[in-house]
Amino acid sequence: MTTLITGTAGFIGFHLARALLEAGETVVGLDNFNDYYAVQLKRDRHALLEVYPRYRGVEMDLCDHEGLRRLVADVRPAAVCNLAAQAGVRYSLEHPFVYAKSNL
Ligand SMILES: NC(=O)c1ccc[n+]([C@@H]2O[C@H](COP(=O)([O-])OP(=O)(O)OC[C@H]3O[C@@H](n4cnc5c(N)ncnc54)[C@H](O)[C@@H]3O)[C@@H](O)[C@H]2O)c1
Repeated sequence: MTTLITGTAGFIGFHLARALLEAGETVVGLDNFNDYYAVQLKRDRHALLEVYPRYRGVEMDLCDHEGLRRLVADVRPAAVCNLAAQAGVRYSLEHPFVYAKSNL
């Protein structure tokens, strides 16, 4: 069974992906590696996932609707877990539109 997880370079997405991989599942992880916080940390998380043969990482923005459509058609996931999001409260005071773009 293949699970498509968005936000696999993020805190929750990374841990979910690793737990599923450890359980022997196949995971496709998507992230745009934005600079809301340290990009290197996100790259390092993905590098840890790339060690698993059943993992495929994809750098893509959720808002690339055509790319997302193609990815889903290609992967045909049994489940999708959408954890890519703009989180945080204070950041929204200065970057309100990022929330509308990624979270809606
Ligand atoms: N961490 C917590 O304690 C907590 C608690 C409750 C709810 N949540 C929710 O869970 C979700 C994930 O939280 P997190 O802590 O893992 O956040 P995170 O910021 O660590 O991870 C989110 C990931 O999504 C990616 N992303 C953001 N916008 C994207 C886009 N448009 N396209 C592709 N990738 C994109 C980011 O690069 C990042 O790696 C959020 O919706 C958050 O509000 C988190």
